[in-house]
Amino acid sequence: MHFSNALQDTASNVNTLLDQLIGTRYAATPRLLEAMRYATLDQGKRLRPFLVLQSAHLFGGDAESALRTAAALECVHCYSLVHDDLPALDNDVIRRGKPTCHIYFDEATAILTGNALLTVAFEILANARTHQDASVRAELAHRLSTAAGYNGMVGGQMLDMTVADFGEVDSNSVVQLQKMKTGALIAFACEAGPIIAKAGESARSLMNGYAANIGLAYQIADDILDVVSTPQRLGKSTQKDNQQSKATFVDLYGLDGAKAKSEELVAAALATLDGFGTEAELLREAALFVTNREH
Ligand code: IPE
Ligand code: IPE
Ligand code: MG
Ligand code: MG
Ligand code: MG
Repeated sequence: MHFSNALQDTASNVNTLLDQLIGTRYAATPRLLEAMRYATLDQGKRLRPFLVLQSAHLFGGDAESALRTAAALECVHCYSLVHDDLPALDNDVIRRGKPTCHIYFDEATAILTGNALLTVAFEILANARTHQDASVRAELAHRLSTAAGYNGMVGGQMLDMTVADFGEVDSNSVVQLQKMKTGALIAFACEAGPIIAKAGESARSLMNGYAANIGLAYQIADDILDVVSTPQRLGKSTQKDNQQSKATFVDLYGLDGAKAKSEELVAAALATLDGFGTEAELLREAALFVTNREH
């Protein structure tokens, strides 16, 4: 199957599951549930879910376990976007082609929506339907919480807000903040497959190598698109990083330098899959998509 069809299939399967998981339950506060659905059931590319499904496929992990793990991860990602857009962070008004959560609802609802999406992710992972082996469920929860937390995504968001205050920004500090704010959840996506499949340490370290490269390349592409694309194409505001003095590779090395860096990282990601045959083809295409994407 071609990559774009496979990505569309993933999006549709994840949407169906999220619609069930955040929909058919009793809600004491319907407005909160509505906002959770607003922030998750929409136009996201669903790349992280795709990586969970493909990394599970590569090592023979159960597809249903992978889909539930993918949905949990997407909840954490959507929470990160809702909070990223808040006035105190990036102060954005459009996300995925529609008003951001705090604009459509209000700021208090958006903060609580983020909190609720973060916690529901762990409710999904801990549910016995996610994996028959409780130690696998525990490990998924352990790895996702580490990736999302103070030494992962949240820590990276903190660095994103503060790095410029510490003086000269160099490439090491940009790499560190991008690895944390974006790389950590992508690394979890790629590690989830081997965890679900109970594959050994070498499978994990191989997927970690792949993820480290595409994770950084993904944020570099995001930073390039902020400069060269349009809100119509991206579904979110552009030209924001410069206005807000964000530390990016574009800022350090210019557009061509940043593009060259992301291509180098994608080549390294592809090399990590050299030992595989056609079963890794969609992961190879995903690596190329990371840097060639237009939205
Ligand atoms: C946007 O992520 C924020 C980053 C960490 C780069 P995506 O570009 O994956 O956003 P969606 O999920 O497709 O909307
Ligand atoms: C956000 O990075 C990373 C997150 C953890 C959400 P950006 O702030 O660059 O993401 P966009 O451009 O708003 O999607
Ligand atoms: Mg941000
Ligand atoms: Mg932002
Ligand atoms: Mg951005």
